[in-house]
Amino acid sequence: MGVKITETILRDAHQSLIATRMTTEQMLPIVDKMDQVGYHAVECWGGATFDACLRFLKEDPWDRLRKLRDGFKNTKLQMLFRGQNILGYRPYADDVVEYFVQKSIANGIDIIRIFDCLNDIRNLQTAVTACNKEKGHAQVALSYTLGEAYTLDYWMDMAKRVEDMGADSLCIKDMAGLLVPTKATELVQALKSSTSLPIELHTHYTSGVASMTYMKAVEAGCDIIDTAMSPFALGTSQPATEVMVEAFKGTEFDTGLDQDKLAEIADYFRPMREEALASGLLNPKVLGVNIATLRYQVPGGMLSNLISQLKEQGKEDKYEEVLAEVPRVRKDLGEPPLVTPSSQIVGTQAVFNVLMGERYKVATKETKDILLGKYGQTVKPFNPEVVEKVLGPDKDKAITCRPADLLEPELDKLEAEMKQWKQQDEDVLSYALFPQVATEFFKYRQAQQTGVDDKIADSENGAYPV
Ligand code: CO
Repeated sequence: MGVKITETILRDAHQSLIATRMTTEQMLPIVDKMDQVGYHAVECWGGATFDACLRFLKEDPWDRLRKLRDGFKNTKLQMLFRGQNILGYRPYADDVVEYFVQKSIANGIDIIRIFDCLNDIRNLQTAVTACNKEKGHAQVALSYTLGEAYTLDYWMDMAKRVEDMGADSLCIKDMAGLLVPTKATELVQALKSSTSLPIELHTHYTSGVASMTYMKAVEAGCDIIDTAMSPFALGTSQPATEVMVEAFKGTEFDTGLDQDKLAEIADYFRPMREEALASGLLNPKVLGVNIATLRYQVPGGMLSNLISQLKEQGKEDKYEEVLAEVPRVRKDLGEPPLVTPSSQIVGTQAVFNVLMGERYKVATKETKDILLGKYGQTVKPFNPEVVEKVLGPDKDKAITCRPADLLEPELDKLEAEMKQWKQQDEDVLSYALFPQVATEFFKYRQAQQTGVDDKIADSENGAYPV
């Protein structure tokens, strides 16, 4: 049996290359052709798409999902889900997580890829159980990273725990492109020996090794790989679908996908790429090989965030210094993988540490929260000196339980806060994740519907960077 392909162009590829700005209108005309390819799945929702829809595109993300579901009649739809953080940046109570899973599946999602930024399994359980209950495919993604704690034994033990918790498949999520080919062979073999779950590999081209890594992983028994159609492939995105299909052609791993059909799809997306390059939305910088990612183990998306944070302060000259500070902060905070939201927490703290001229002179709320255990348990202990400096006497308030055990149910309160805007059940979930952004979207939506205040709506819209 050949290797299966998950296509990412409708989610990760445009999130990685063009700041998640692909619109539903741009997606729909090609859906029918994509549906005929025979992809294992199309990743098309979750991650940053939800936020981007509401904040920048003035689209209802739920409406996007329903439209994609209507178009994809034969293909499984996949979303990316940040465990207890859902698609947001903080932990939510279980009732919100459960309701979000329920509504995602009810609106058309087949496979939910669930990860936690600390690989704290406890933060995945509620979403996995809810997905099982709703008869969705629960895929747990382990955030891949390097460091003392991340041995083959660690990954094998994690894989077993993932299987035991009720997952239907396991993904290795290498958001930074750190997994090199020979290590992929070792890792996949180890995972295969410790679990019978199907193994999927998700990586990014950022460091230039990704397609070689896929080759080795597949040869070692990896069942599914994530690729993006060539116009939005490579750079900080995934290896190109057509290239991987061709690479395995005629081997025991032959995908069976039709290059003619893929070519038509590529033809459709190519002008979009050209347009994005011309407008500057697609920065040629993200298309090159970035060796800093291997040197500093920093995901591509995080690099561009750091650059823009420094630019705002007029301190671009501190870039190298900040990059060098990132691994130090990561170590202080228990050496977590760097993926949303831990990547933002570590990155922002590194910026503060460098710009203030004294480490942890200023600590962000998120840094404090991670040290208080509010995001869950890290694989390594925190640096005690940093705990002392940042938390002081508050360190006694640190928790070791599953963070969501301390959260009261939130749904009723959220419903009460937003009921004047409610037009569909799902609106409360949009509001739960992004209260301000969703409220502005609801106002915009209402203005569009009543046909008045078009000017205000337009000028509000114009206030956002696009
Ligand atoms: Co990714």
